[in-house]
Amino acid sequence: MNKKVTAVLTLMLSMILGSILPGQARSALKDHSIQHSIERQTVRDKFINFESLINSLGIIEGMTILDIGASAGYASFLFAEKLHGTGEVFATEVRDVLVDHVAGEARQRGLTNLTSVLVKVDGLDDFYSQHRYDIVLLSNVYHCLDNRIQYFSKLREFLKPNARLVIVMYNQDHLFSEDSLSDIEAWVSNIVATYSTDTGSNPFFEELSTATRQLISAGDRGNSLRLALLEDFNRMLKNPLFYKHFYTNSYFRENFFTPPERNLANWLIMMLQEDGVFEKPADQIDARTMRTVIRLNRLFFTGQFYKSVKNWREFIPPSDANRHTSKYVMFRELDAAGYKVASETSLSTYYDAIIMVPKAP
Ligand SMILES: C[S@@+](CC[C@H](N)C(=O)[O-])C[C@H]1O[C@@H](n2cnc3c(N)ncnc32)[C@H](O)[C@@H]1O
Repeated sequence: MNKKVTAVLTLMLSMILGSILPGQARSALKDHSIQHSIERQTVRDKFINFESLINSLGIIEGMTILDIGASAGYASFLFAEKLHGTGEVFATEVRDVLVDHVAGEARQRGLTNLTSVLVKVDGLDDFYSQHRYDIVLLSNVYHCLDNRIQYFSKLREFLKPNARLVIVMYNQDHLFSEDSLSDIEAWVSNIVATYSTDTGSNPFFEELSTATRQLISAGDRGNSLRLALLEDFNRMLKNPLFYKHFYTNSYFRENFFTPPERNLANWLIMMLQEDGVFEKPADQIDARTMRTVIRLNRLFFTGQFYKSVKNWREFIPPSDANRHTSKYVMFRELDAAGYKVASETSLSTYYDAIIMVPKAP
């Protein structure tokens, strides 16, 4: 069934159920949505570790903290506890069930300094202008917002001097791990299938080591092949010139990417060119720039392999892979909105925390 038809049918079904279900069954649906949000935050916490992130922020009593898109309130509760009953924490959400849930939990936990607030989806809600903030957290929320330059320019007016914007986002530029190649059969059949198409020799195949090729030809599909591929793929990711295979070949350029991916690739290439990365020996590239190289090269892996590898969604959260809102887009937009980067920390293989501060007026 086509996606649009499925979406319309789902919407109609939920409207019908909403109008005919008895109260108890309706609240079961509502609970499911909250349960899902709570579980999602717990899973996310494994990779973000909200507690140590919040501990690193130097929270002091009396601060005013804003958690935009707080969902089930995971970070907001921690902030409120850290303030020991002083200051104020505002947890904002656009979904009323979550707002009710956070308010109820705050009451139960005796967190009198935590206020749960319903805000509008589009643009910066008027609520934000009522306070002045020391810390604003946006954890996995940046990609949900529209007209971001306008949104953050306006928000800047409500920040206290020395305020920080803490943005947690999926970093999209890590190296592969063994888990990434757990579906080894799919990866190999993909490589072999790609190799035997009539599109000319494939750069991925050309870059495989002799040892890897021998393992593939010998029919090895076990751990030796996984480790050999891992080494090859990570070498490709860190090679600043790897992207050229694809960019100088119009077949790859046109077929591997969706338009947003192509825009991101162009933007990353431009930034790396400005830094003179393509002329430098790889060992002279600093760690931060190398992550941009990795991000650029990962786009080719996404285009080439992920979309056809059975369980690729297990290691790339689909929302992040699909939305293409990357840190680089965020840097550019927040620069335009009047902020600069104060620090960047890797929270785990998958997540970064970026602290932005207002630029001097
Ligand atoms: C992916 S979740 C992240 C939740 C939580 N911050 C975390 O890291 O687990 C994004 C949340 O932002 C909320 N959201 C979307 N647009 C928003 C907006 N304009 N203002 C406030 N919250 C918003 C969504 O309802 C959703 O609960």
